[in-house]
Amino acid sequence: MRAPKQEGGQLRPLKTLERVLSKAGIGSRTDARKWIGAARVRVNGKLVQTPDYWVDLERDRVTLDGKPVRAQERRYLLLYKPKGYITSNGDPDGRATVYDLIGELGAWVVPVGRLDQDTSGLLLMTNDTQFAERIMNPEFHVPKTYLVKCSTVVGDDALDRLRNGVELSDGPTRPAEVRRVRDSGKYTHLEITITEGRNRQVRRMIEAVDSKVLKLVRTAIGQIEIGGLQIGAYRDLTPAELRALGGK
Ligand code: URA
Repeated sequence: MRAPKQEGGQLRPLKTLERVLSKAGIGSRTDARKWIGAARVRVNGKLVQTPDYWVDLERDRVTLDGKPVRAQERRYLLLYKPKGYITSNGDPDGRATVYDLIGELGAWVVPVGRLDQDTSGLLLMTNDTQFAERIMNPEFHVPKTYLVKCSTVVGDDALDRLRNGVELSDGPTRPAEVRRVRDSGKYTHLEITITEGRNRQVRRMIEAVDSKVLKLVRTAIGQIEIGGLQIGAYRDLTPAELRALGGK
C-alpha cells in the first residue's frame, strides 16, 4: 500500500500498523495481523482492524490489549541447534522447532537465516531485524563456517574446485575457504567457509564434486564460534561478539 500524501512537504515517520507491531519485537507479522483482526489493537484510543493502516511513529499511540506498544529491548541469542529441529515458527507436521528450545523469552526473536532440519550448529536469533538482514545479506560477505563429513574420500582436485567456485543450478558459488580436516577410512572431513547463504548451499556444493554430505555442523559466523555450548542450549551474545558482527 502506498504511503498517504504528506502535508507541508515534511516527511513523517510512517509505518503500517502491522509493521509497527512486528517491529516492536513482541510477535511475528502473522501474530500482528491476528491481534489486529481480533480487535485487540487501538491507535490513539480508536479500534483499528486494518493491518495496512498508516501510523505516525512520533505522534500516534498504539496499544495492544490496552498496553502501549514500545520497541523491546534487543536480544541476540546464540543457539546450538540440534539435528532434527526446524528453524520456522510452528510446523503443520508437528516437527520440533527451535522455538521449543528457547522457551518463553519475553521477546520475539527470529532465526538469522536458516539451517536445514538435518544440519546442527550455530544459529543466531534476534529481534533486531536490521542486524539480521545484514548478516544474511550476501553483499556483506559475512563468513559462515561448517564442518562437513562427506560420504566419500574427496580428492585434492575436488577441493580446489570447491575453493574456486562450483556451478550450481542457481549460478556459480563464490570462492570458498576449504580445509581438509582428516580422511577417516572411506570418508573425508572438511571445514568450509562460505560468504553466501543459499538454500542447502554446502550440500549442493559437495554434490557438485560427486560426493554427499553425511553430517553438517555450522561452527562459526564471522568470528563468533559455537565453542563449548551444549547441543540444544543457548546464550546471549557478549557485547564484544555483537560488535564483532557489526551490531551495537
Ligand atoms: N548449507 C546447507 O547445505 N545447509 C545448511 O543448513 C546450511 C548451509
